[in-house]
Amino acid sequence: MHKRLFIPGPVEVCPEVLDRMATPMIGHRGKEAADLQARISQKLQTLMYTKNLIVLSTSSGTGLMEGAVRSFCAKRTAVFSVGAFGKRWYELCEYNEVPADLYEVPLGQATPPEQIRAALQSGRYDLVTITHNETSTGVANDLEVLAEVMAEFPEVYWAVDCVSSLGGAKIEVDRLGIDICISSSQKCLGLPPGLSLASVSERALKRAETVKHRGFYFDYVRLAKFVKEKPFQYPSTPSLAHYFALDYQLDRILAEGLEQRFARHTELAERTRAWATDHFALFADPGHLSATVTCISNTRGIDVAELNRRLGQQGYQISNGYGPLKNKTFRIAHMADCSRADLEALLLTMDDICADL
Ligand SMILES: Cc1ncc(COP(=O)(O)O)c(C=O)c1O
Repeated sequence: MHKRLFIPGPVEVCPEVLDRMATPMIGHRGKEAADLQARISQKLQTLMYTKNLIVLSTSSGTGLMEGAVRSFCAKRTAVFSVGAFGKRWYELCEYNEVPADLYEVPLGQATPPEQIRAALQSGRYDLVTITHNETSTGVANDLEVLAEVMAEFPEVYWAVDCVSSLGGAKIEVDRLGIDICISSSQKCLGLPPGLSLASVSERALKRAETVKHRGFYFDYVRLAKFVKEKPFQYPSTPSLAHYFALDYQLDRILAEGLEQRFARHTELAERTRAWATDHFALFADPGHLSATVTCISNTRGIDVAELNRRLGQQGYQISNGYGPLKNKTFRIAHMADCSRADLEALLLTMDDICADL
């Protein structure tokens, strides 16, 4: 039996979108492929509220994150982490020998703007990396507030991991001045895993041209060069199957209406939080709750694996806590094409199971 996914990626993919993955192949160097990529780019610019260049990558989001620390840091990176995926930025720096410092907060909290201001005042950094929506703790950083701090340091570039928020929460890239905004296909965009995307500012691309040893596959300068000069091509053979599905899914997203889509995510998040506080407690700081995934403190010490096993028998799957939060928390994702009815059906089933655990 297929288990309906309420895990924070991969998510349920609607059957029509899945069908598009089976579109007969086209040559990746032809006009048809370039037109396809151009269409995707334009629609992503709308979704991201940006005029910046869009690059696509046949990899999950981590690939473009790795490319970002290699391409945009000439001096030193300040990594602001609020959990496991924030730390990943730091690991990417370490493994690529990009000089970096890690700034953390206790799990469940967001990055305070003062932490960024204090670090950047040192003048040591030219790149900031940050996670918008920390999938492991259900914390959403406040990009509006952080953007104000970043504006005080125009010589510093910032890369934002929007892997688990783009398509579920409003991210106005140009207004916020985000240089590099990265996301993956398998979360709020509602596609299978395997594709990622980023918007890149022109000033960041100019800067990257001065950086040596940017790598090859995820070199943003090279990726951008193809989009601009070829035009709308990818340096290697891309996952055209994902392109077909993304092209179609972006039409669906825009047809829903962006404001409506974000409002639906907020409504689902509020409903999930209400359920969580009735039965358990919320893990994240109440002022910084994610709109796309809710992390629930296991205050009753239930057997989370058993909860998921029984949910599985009813055709559902949620997520255990991530890393050190395993069993201490569990997570319900409410992203992509999830409807209120889908969520209510899950919560009803959870009511029954939790009463018996
Ligand atoms: C916030 C966040 N950042 C980065 C990643 C890594 O993305 P990917 O698995 O697409 O490489 C994830 C994956 O769950 C994530 O949730």
